[in-house]
Amino acid sequence: MRKNYAVIAAGGLGTRLKDYKDNEFTKVLIELNGLSMISTQIKQLQSWGLENFIIITNPEFHDLIVEDVSKNYKDLNIQYSVQKSPNGIADALSYAEDKVEDSSLVTFVLGDNFFGANPFLGIDFNSFKGAQIFVIDVENPQEFGVMETDSKDNIINLHEKPKDYISSLAVVGLYIYEKTCFEYIKELIPSARGELEITDLNKIYMKKKLLNYKLINSWWIDAGTEDRISELKGLI
Ligand code: G1P
Repeated sequence: MRKNYAVIAAGGLGTRLKDYKDNEFTKVLIELNGLSMISTQIKQLQSWGLENFIIITNPEFHDLIVEDVSKNYKDLNIQYSVQKSPNGIADALSYAEDKVEDSSLVTFVLGDNFFGANPFLGIDFNSFKGAQIFVIDVENPQEFGVMETDSKDNIINLHEKPKDYISSLAVVGLYIYEKTCFEYIKELIPSARGELEITDLNKIYMKKKLLNYKLINSWWIDAGTEDRISELKGLI
């Protein structure tokens, strides 16, 4: 079985949550029904069969995250890396490079993304090539990366938070890559908001015709606002 590392982006402070609980914690330490968001994320990834974890933290909250995770998971294979500055999601992923063995796969998940069912069902990891994104139909596509397809449902473009309507298919915060992702991240240039965008990384695979997608057919929550955190608590 090909090794598949779970890399969790846990560094973001969550600017949309800046007034939540006086912003005393980073987003991934918010408690969801008695367990922190980061520990709930590990539980979710374990339930999909993942066993090797790499958590990308930030300098300010690194120690608190390690303390929380170590308390809840004593015997898991977990490595940590600190993202030095908030330069984007693709930049966060780059911090896992030296911890991933050659020929392994990387499952990259944003710490605040949760799913009602295992999205991996039907994916053959042994013959996996390139990159995989997951999409779901939403009413607020302007808040996410979106996928544009042609009349035959082939991917023709990806757009990060488009102001004007292009598609209602949001690209969720879960991605699978071959180890080539780390080389491609080095080719990225910062976007207008000064970040290395995960959407730009996925576009590199798209241009090489190595990007696949799968529709999510359960609920999905990007727990980035107080409302969505409350909703998530009712679902898990
Ligand atoms: C990020 C990605 C976006 C994706 C979203 C999913 O946005 O940039 O493409 O659709 O996660 O949660 P963020 O919510 O971090 O701004």
